[in-house]
Amino acid sequence: SVKGIILAGGSGSRLWPLSRQQLPKQFLNIGGASSMLSATIERLDPLVGHDDIWVVTGETHATGEAFSELEGLNQILEPCGRNTAPAIAIAAALMQDLSGEDPVMVVLPADHIVANKEAFQACLSKAIEVAQEDRLVTFGIVPNAPETGFGYIQADAAGGDGVRKVLRFVEKPDIQNAQRMLDDGNYYWNSGMFVWKASVIIEEVEKYIPEMAALLNEMRSRWNGKEKWQEVIRSSFEKMPDISIDYGIMERSERVSLVPAEIGWSDVGSWDAVHEMAKHDADGNEMSGNVMAIDCRNTLLRSEKALIAAVGIEDIIAVETPDAILLCKAGQSQRVKEIVDNLKEGE
Ligand code: GDD
Ligand code: MG
Repeated sequence: SVKGIILAGGSGSRLWPLSRQQLPKQFLNIGGASSMLSATIERLDPLVGHDDIWVVTGETHATGEAFSELEGLNQILEPCGRNTAPAIAIAAALMQDLSGEDPVMVVLPADHIVANKEAFQACLSKAIEVAQEDRLVTFGIVPNAPETGFGYIQADAAGGDGVRKVLRFVEKPDIQNAQRMLDDGNYYWNSGMFVWKASVIIEEVEKYIPEMAALLNEMRSRWNGKEKWQEVIRSSFEKMPDISIDYGIMERSERVSLVPAEIGWSDVGSWDAVHEMAKHDADGNEMSGNVMAIDCRNTLLRSEKALIAAVGIEDIIAVETPDAILLCKAGQSQRVKEIVDNLKEGE
């Protein structure tokens, strides 16, 4: 069987002030018809049914402002954030223990945009086949800029079916190395979507993050005994090491395969990314909500309530919310994170 595991515990801080700690971007509608989480679930239909989909997220989200977005979904709730490796490992163990089988897991971030659902599903079907052969499968995106926020994957020559063995995985390189890998031409971006058998990822956790595997085994024996699995997670998850699946496993594993994915992917990581994928007018402006603009070029103007009136501006991102207004030069929106960090320090 196939299980969908949706990771929805991140904080999405670079899309401030729309994305907030209490209601980060995966629960918001950013340029689509519904929230990014609902769009992610809908994208799996009909390959993975609603009952086989599990959302892994923070307990605070499930009881807080995101409640209505999560209601009615299978949930694995973390009492605190420990990045993606523990979230995925717990999900793998639970999927085995709840089903009594060894399902293939389709692990998807809840905060990405995929414009071409048919192409995505074709890649996914291929990835599920490759995962059955005990591989860790990732989706490769052709890079177009030296982004430092992504993983880079060097792939072997394509096999007959387009699936490629992975030679090297480099998570979040510095700018010089990112540029080198972009120029090399043989690297893909890691999309952050993964497909593998539960048993295979657990083997890799045992091999590369043994202290996590030990805690996981202890938790499993408790929930396979008398305790409820939710309670075991609530009381023990905090002891998990804080590490991403990319640094913890993907950089080290020797059994990674890549499916090239031309699927209209964007991780919508920043306002510039939102701008890029939006439908602009002829002058490159993207406006939504209560906005009036005269003679503007290359702007993203987004207002919930107060009128944004702009005259003769260029290369500006403006986002209005009830308690904060962001003004940012286009091209610098990665740095919105610095604002959020400063605000946190002031708390
Ligand atoms: N449940 C849970 N718990 N989910 C989490 C946690 C956590 O502690 N931390 C992050 N997530 C979720 C996020 O909401 C997101 O959907 C996904 O896991 C990935 O986490 P990010 O924090 O967004 O990772 P990233 O964007 O820095 O890097 C990853 O994605 C890139 C592509 O967007 C990596 O896989 C890179 O290699 C990849 O290129
Ligand atoms: Mg991300």
